[in-house]
Amino acid sequence: MQERILDFLKRKQGYVSGDTIASRLGITRQGLWKHIQELKELGYDIVAVPHLGYRLESLPDRLFPFEVSHNLNTKFVGKRAHYFDTATSTMEIAMDLGLKGAPAGSVVIAESQTKGKGRLGRIWFSPKYKGIYLSLILRPTLLPSEASIFTLLSAVSICEALKNFAAIDAQIKWPNDIFLGQKKLGGILTELNAETDKINFIVIGIGLNVNNDKKSLISGSTSLKEHKKESVDRAGLLKEVLRRIEANYFLLEKKGSGVILDKWREHNLTLGRRVKVYCQKKHLEGEALGLDRDGGLLVRNDGGLIEKVLAGDVVHCR
Ligand code: BTN
Repeated sequence: MQERILDFLKRKQGYVSGDTIASRLGITRQGLWKHIQELKELGYDIVAVPHLGYRLESLPDRLFPFEVSHNLNTKFVGKRAHYFDTATSTMEIAMDLGLKGAPAGSVVIAESQTKGKGRLGRIWFSPKYKGIYLSLILRPTLLPSEASIFTLLSAVSICEALKNFAAIDAQIKWPNDIFLGQKKLGGILTELNAETDKINFIVIGIGLNVNNDKKSLISGSTSLKEHKKESVDRAGLLKEVLRRIEANYFLLEKKGSGVILDKWREHNLTLGRRVKVYCQKKHLEGEALGLDRDGGLLVRNDGGLIEKVLAGDVVHCR
């Protein structure tokens, strides 16, 4: 009901009488008043003026599921949202939901994480109400070896959303770090539940530094607020990320991975540079030549030998 009341208030610019809202929604005026009090407790600034009615002055800076679904206009991505004020890690929750059969497109959103996971066993610093911490469940009909295209697709989608929503040109450091200038703005972690020849489901974890002040950023990272010198509407940005992921997902289904790889190259920060790549067992150095069909990085060493890297940590040398 709260969601319907909010919908009503958002559609009207001025005051709406309690009678009108109550009768349209089939509730009593007293019932409406109770819901309005609950919304106020959630942080919605709703003013009530005798003889005029209610007016929504401002929304709280929260990623409530009904804010995320409001005007989202997607077919399946973000249609179901699980929301936590604090979570251990949205990855853990999403992997669990995936095992229990959660439909493709379900998202897990947290306002903070106590055990946010980064790539390669690192920690993802997740201060409360500052960032976007999101895990998305997808169920593509692909081979496990093809899964990394979703990481690239997500990185591209984030760059497109940043451009559309915040007029920011971000870049991607292979494979999936989102960079602004020389600093890291966000990252993507992909986890799979798969059999030898079939993906059961995939969870894409996205962490973005949005409204972090300098003191809540680790060294080498930045936030949108640091960059723009003003706060950014987290819910609006999150919705645009979900829309772009869905649009690119449909594009991948229709046209194959080539079109996603082309988009990735447009935002790339790594190709053409001299790099050091630290893999699990070895490290290599050379020129980052290109991407292969699955999104692996092709590196040419000084002896001219071209090697393909599927996972690792890249350092740009120049
Ligand atoms: C990286 O190391 O760059 C990847 C970071 C991914 C962080 C996100 S935040 C939401 C989701 N939940 C997690 O615990 N990690 C991912």
